[in-house]
Amino acid sequence: MISTLFRAKNVEQSIRDTEEPEHALKKTLSALDLTVFGIGVIIGTGIFVLTGKVAKENAGPAVSLSFVIAGVVCALAALCYAEFASTVPVAGSAYTFSYATLGELPAWIIGWDLVLEFALGTAVVAVGWSGYLRSLLDNAGWHLPGYLSGRDGAHGFGFDILAAALVLVLTAILVVGVKLSARVTQLVVAIKVTVVLIVIIAGAFFISGANYAPFVPKPQPVAAEGSLSGPLVQLMFGWTPSNYGVLGIFTAASVVFFAFIGFDIVATTAEETRNPQRDMPRGILGSLLVCTLLYVAVSIVVTGMEHYSKLSVDAPLADAFKAIGHPWYAGVISFGAAVGLTTVCMILLLGQTRIFFAMSRDGLLPRFFSHVHPRFKTPHRPTVLLGVVIAVIAGFTSLSELAALVNIGTLFAFVVVAIGVVILRRTRPDLPRSFRTPFVPVLPIVSVGASLWLMLNLPTVTWLRFAGWLLVGFVLYFLYGRTHSRLARREGAVTGDVPRPPAGSTP
Ligand code: ALA
Repeated sequence: MISTLFRAKNVEQSIRDTEEPEHALKKTLSALDLTVFGIGVIIGTGIFVLTGKVAKENAGPAVSLSFVIAGVVCALAALCYAEFASTVPVAGSAYTFSYATLGELPAWIIGWDLVLEFALGTAVVAVGWSGYLRSLLDNAGWHLPGYLSGRDGAHGFGFDILAAALVLVLTAILVVGVKLSARVTQLVVAIKVTVVLIVIIAGAFFISGANYAPFVPKPQPVAAEGSLSGPLVQLMFGWTPSNYGVLGIFTAASVVFFAFIGFDIVATTAEETRNPQRDMPRGILGSLLVCTLLYVAVSIVVTGMEHYSKLSVDAPLADAFKAIGHPWYAGVISFGAAVGLTTVCMILLLGQTRIFFAMSRDGLLPRFFSHVHPRFKTPHRPTVLLGVVIAVIAGFTSLSELAALVNIGTLFAFVVVAIGVVILRRTRPDLPRSFRTPFVPVLPIVSVGASLWLMLNLPTVTWLRFAGWLLVGFVLYFLYGRTHSRLARREGAVTGDVPRPPAGSTP
């Protein structure tokens, strides 16, 4: 029984599976496409929305340090991801990597975890997008009724019609084909990066040194003592829950971590990359580096333009310009943010469908979902199914708590990938690796520690929700995946065993 839970998919087999014509994706993406994909999904709600909230509530101007911390954690993880992605170039990201190294049950858990990350991430970003769009519509004098503006502002029934509509439109685009999506992405990424550069360059002229004092505000106790909404690490060590100070910088880092989510999604498109061995590491590390530099610059500029205590929580980048009497800049930034968040949503959705596709191809989810559309060559069935589910979630979603849940899921995946790198080096030292993580095993171990540290800085309630989600995953695996997995059936064919042992049996 234990051995079946940790049966690992052979790496060559993983690659061969992708070559079956009925289940193969088109190989069209280049290193540039990947970098653009990366930037397209990385810069989003994190920098456009969360910066103001954490600067105001958790870290003050030191939020720029929080971005550095989150960036370092991601860079460590990226170095591990890059080795995996260049060694096991098939759809599915951390899911695929762990299937080839840690075995089936850990792979299932990771896949299940990534479904959470991407589905909720898509919903969170769609809601953020809808907020920016509504603000633009308001400027133009068009006001949506409250019951169609989302849950947060609604009395009674509230459905975010714009967020749901965005997800459905993007679903249709993804069904038609990844190449079209990449072209749309390139255009939108150009607009988004331009807007971020406008914030940095124009904003730099309005910085007032007085706004940086104090750079690290003194710790302030918060009322959350004993409640589940404080960071787990503060509860564990019995520290008085507080905002600001050094601990506040870490709390903020665990939140703005959301701003970096996405570089791992570049790895999910490995199977559609022309030369994954060379292009995958370049795409992942390149997009991460560009975004980190932009984030640190943006957060330094924005907290220099306006005192952190006065920053807006909904649209901090645009509102900082309004506050200094430049509404025109604010309008341009809002427009760019609304356009930019569209690609974030689209690529999160893309990563999500590819993981679902890979899990279904392996038999852990029904094989019905792994058929490729005969004309568009896309996994249309999971795309449509997940698109509709996420549209409903986005319609009824409240933003900030879900972002924390997305973060914990992603950090958990980082931990597993870092461990996987070390294991694969030992079990398959022979595999060609065009990119090798430096300083193995020290770097992966540091990466595990750093990811765990950020996880511990997330609220206790987030841990409980995450545990609940994983529990549901375990139940599904034992009820379905363990007996239907392709690997189980292959093993059955070789040994002559009946491939569906009764639950609890020991093969
Ligand atoms: N990193 C993406 C964002 O900030 C998910 O929206």
